[in-house]
Amino acid sequence: MLFNPQDISRDFKPDFSFFSQHDSLTKLVQHVKYDVFNFDVLRLDLMNEFWGGNKLFKLKENIQFVLDNKLKGVVTFGGANSNHLYATAALCNQFNLPCVVLVRGEAKLRQTSTLTFMESKGATIYNLNRTDYKNKNQPEFLAYIEKLFPDFHIIPEGGNNLLGIKGCESILPGVQNNYDYILCACGTATTFTGIYNASLKNQIVIGISVLKGENRLIHDVNATLLNLHSKPYIEENRELTEEIISSTILNDYAFSGYAAFDKELIEFKNNFETETSIPLDYIYTSKLFYGASDLMRKKRISETKKVLIIHCGGLQGNADYEARYHLTDKR
Ligand SMILES: Cc1ncc(COP(=O)(O)O)c(C=O)c1O
Repeated sequence: MLFNPQDISRDFKPDFSFFSQHDSLTKLVQHVKYDVFNFDVLRLDLMNEFWGGNKLFKLKENIQFVLDNKLKGVVTFGGANSNHLYATAALCNQFNLPCVVLVRGEAKLRQTSTLTFMESKGATIYNLNRTDYKNKNQPEFLAYIEKLFPDFHIIPEGGNNLLGIKGCESILPGVQNNYDYILCACGTATTFTGIYNASLKNQIVIGISVLKGENRLIHDVNATLLNLHSKPYIEENRELTEEIISSTILNDYAFSGYAAFDKELIEFKNNFETETSIPLDYIYTSKLFYGASDLMRKKRISETKKVLIIHCGGLQGNADYEARYHLTDKR
């Protein structure tokens, strides 16, 4: 049966105190010694089983927007293992908001635990073939989605909109922010942009891109900064051996590409987890901590500097990844 948005009830149960529970993040800062390096990790992964990590931050202003404007629900996009979809379905369920997810894939989607979870949270799931999916940000396509789901709020893939950035601006003010360097992983760079906007003068924010190929993220972030008139542009880091002296997104730790299986990375993940007891995901945080260790080892981040690494969660995706590549869960 085709989903009929008109059936959706307007019976909202907003709880406006919900988001402010997460204002103080200081208790989530963990001091870590790994190898010979010392740094702090902001364990956003510990915040909540379903929408922990950066998800709450990328989604909170979006959900608030739906509640404030008495919209009917949320439509969003992602892959069948998407952490963003997982968290969006769970948060919508928490707020009694209908959630429509448009999943990249052909007519019969491979059943993943993310899809099963979203179904259990009442999300309505449709698949979008890869051609339609590529067009998902085109105005004509969005107009079509708006027509199908009137009065729904459309959240782009990965929560990548200005409300997502605004939400991520509240990460740094939640900690005692006396760091020289702040590092986070980048998929869409929404989280990076929010953190960069909230960073203090002289702080250096380094994004570790998990996407292989030409570094478009710097261009995208600068386009957003231009739009917001918020901060100076970030620059590409061309000096591969010297100390990093300004905020940037590095493309050197993407391995063979987004979510690709890589033995060296998995060895690093296992070793890091054993030494620190901090669980990592395969797609984002393994690359982030690998990159951070490499930068410290090469003294591109000097050992005298105070470093904060943001753990953005993503652990829910591990089960499907391990099943797919026949890995044993060592956690
Ligand atoms: C665990 C984790 N880290 C980092 C990111 C990257 O975030 P962004 O898309 O804001 O760059 C994601 C994706 O949302 C993620 O799930």
